[in-house]
Amino acid sequence: MNPTKPAAQASGEEAVRSGRDTLSIVDNRTGKKYEVLITDGTIRAMDLRQIKVGEADFGLMNYDPAFTNTALCRSRITYIDGDAGILRYRGYPIEELAERSTYLETAYLILHGELPVRAQLEEWTYHVTHHTFIHESIKKFLEGFHYDAHPMGMMISTIAALSTFYPDAKHIFDAESRRKQTWRLIGKMPTLAAFAYRHSLGMPYAYPHHDLSYTGNFLNMLFKTTELKYRPNATLERALDVLFILHADHEQNCSANAMRNVGSSHVDPYSAAAAATAALYGPLHGGANEQVLRMLMEIGSIERVPEYIQRVKAGERKLMGFGHRIYKNYDPRARIIKRRAEEVFEVMGRNPLLDIALECERIALEDEYFVKRRLYPNVDFYTGLIYQSMGFPVTMFPVLFAIPRMAGWIAQWEEMLLDPEQKIARPRQIYLGPDQRAYIPIEQRG
Ligand code: CMC
Repeated sequence: MNPTKPAAQASGEEAVRSGRDTLSIVDNRTGKKYEVLITDGTIRAMDLRQIKVGEADFGLMNYDPAFTNTALCRSRITYIDGDAGILRYRGYPIEELAERSTYLETAYLILHGELPVRAQLEEWTYHVTHHTFIHESIKKFLEGFHYDAHPMGMMISTIAALSTFYPDAKHIFDAESRRKQTWRLIGKMPTLAAFAYRHSLGMPYAYPHHDLSYTGNFLNMLFKTTELKYRPNATLERALDVLFILHADHEQNCSANAMRNVGSSHVDPYSAAAAATAALYGPLHGGANEQVLRMLMEIGSIERVPEYIQRVKAGERKLMGFGHRIYKNYDPRARIIKRRAEEVFEVMGRNPLLDIALECERIALEDEYFVKRRLYPNVDFYTGLIYQSMGFPVTMFPVLFAIPRMAGWIAQWEEMLLDPEQKIARPRQIYLGPDQRAYIPIEQRG
């Protein structure tokens, strides 16, 4: 069915009278009228193509740099209402999941659409846990990095390298193969991260422990020294698990879009996930948590907060950890993290940078510059303080975002692959360069 009809067949007034969800468009260049279907509050960009000034005209396109008003897909994974500050995975509010679920259970929910029954959770946990080991050659690969290599650079490279170890991952339309790569990717992320961390310290690698939880095992691989068996602190283990739940997916963000975009070429999921990790690394995305900590250290004291805020308002700096493309309200994740921070500080001692962060937030929430632009703390504003208190160096902060986001990336990738409407992602452009011209030999160029 062609959803768009020329106005000769159905005028805008008729459409209104008939109560149909349509948009009437008048092209003032030609005087022609069109009626375009509205479905789910959206019109199809391809419906604009028939709007032409003449036969040779390519047809109307919509221009949307940075996709600020373009729906890329129909998704059933994550729901965000940015004005109301709502975030739900598969319909479940983030607050409830953070309170009652575990990261692995939430990852299962995101990937499978439903919460697991006990046997499903056990089987899922077993498979993820038994795919935590990495090929010994990955260790050799890590040896090639400088001691001060950024761990996100190491992550991007080692995730991409996994594709060479699992050539079966190329069978992306084989559900069994996708299932296996999912266990591997989710299982190996903490191992790759912990090994990158230990490499930067020159410490021997600590291998995974199968009888620890997902986050407990991660802490083991990071911090184990001479003890025969590492016992994670239960408060820190749970706090990290909650942080992982909060970071598990966030619908069509920059890195999810990278995963879908690169995956749409039908490359294997390791290569697509490496691209998603690279997108996350940027300071405007998952790298923001690292920048928040650097900013708080640069501010240095509560007294210097007003001066820093002035510089932000003058456009010299950004208040890192503030603002969001979608949230124009308090990021619900930031609220949960702020509460969890207190529990971590009880174990590890209060992070002295917290007072500077609280003062930044207090001033920003009252200041007209931030109020007018609806800039609120986002997920990254308080996570860094927790990570620092737990003993992580700042360079590890984006890695702590990447590990749990793998569940979301895979779910987004799989949804894209199985969506019959999706094709290789290939945007259009408005060409503004020179028209055809003749090549000029170098000796004749002015
Ligand atoms: N500090 C100061 N001004 C800001 C900030 C900020 N953090 N964020 C936005 N603005 C201003 C911006 O300059 C612009 O002002 P004007 O209208 O005068 O030009 C206005 O607010 C709108 O901002 P925008 O850049 O058009 O908004 P965006 O949707 O393109 O960008 C953002 C969203 C997250 C990239 C941006 O808010 C930002 O750079 N924040 C700091 C980095 C950060 O914390 N990123 C983490 C995002 S949450 C984790 C994740 O999912 O990645």
